[in-house]
Amino acid sequence: MNKWFFFNLFLLLTSLWKVMTGYGFPTIQIHILLGITGVFFILFNWTRHAVFSTIRNSTDRRIKIKYANFSKKAMPFHRWTGTTALIIILFHAGFVLNRFGIHLENPKIISGLLAGSVLAGVVISGWMRRIKPSGTKRIAHLRLGLTMFFLILLHVIL
Ligand code: HEM
Ligand code: HEM
Repeated sequence: MNKWFFFNLFLLLTSLWKVMTGYGFPTIQIHILLGITGVFFILFNWTRHAVFSTIRNSTDRRIKIKYANFSKKAMPFHRWTGTTALIIILFHAGFVLNRFGIHLENPKIISGLLAGSVLAGVVISGWMRRIKPSGTKRIAHLRLGLTMFFLILLHVIL
């Protein structure tokens, strides 16, 4: 198992934990529901990175083939789960800002805006990569994804 599977599981469990220990649980407010749904969609796509790392690092041909087939099955959804994640997060931000206002001194709002902006970059670089692939776009898509992962973790923990 690649270490990224554990990192991803950690983000998933931390997000679920935050939501379940939040104010008023089991009643979940709409902005929180949108936030956690966004995490599900983003992690579905980001797990590709764990799968690709496993393929690269494995010396066992059977494992390489198994993961490559798995990745191929998920690929037709990739661009749509990614784009949907962005739309969900835009609604998350819309509900949050409508409710609390733009308080840039609030770490939750700042980290959210940062994570949301990088998510937009991930989706834009993804579409650019799909329309006309290049090495630079591949690296941009990957690095932005990596940055986003840690920003989301920060956003959820804060
Ligand atoms: C990739 C983008 C984002 C993801 C995955 C995300 C995810 C989440 C999740 C799962 C929660 C609920 C857990 C918790 O309370 O810690 C949450 C809460 C929150 N998010 Fe986001 N978010 C994102 C972007 C944003 C943006 C752009 C904003 C700014 C407008 C924002 C502002 C907030 C605030 C203020 C809360 C706390 C709400 C409360 O306690 O009632 N988030 N977010
Ligand atoms: C939450 C949003 C997204 C995340 C986290 C994400 C993440 C990833 C990751 C980790 C990879 C594998 C990177 C590599 O080693 O080459 C990848 C590949 C790719 N992504 Fe995304 N992506 C997202 C959204 C999108 C969107 C919206 C598109 C739009 C078309 C897209 C297009 C692509 C393409 C074309 C590839 C290469 C596919 C392949 O080599 O099989 N991505 N993405």
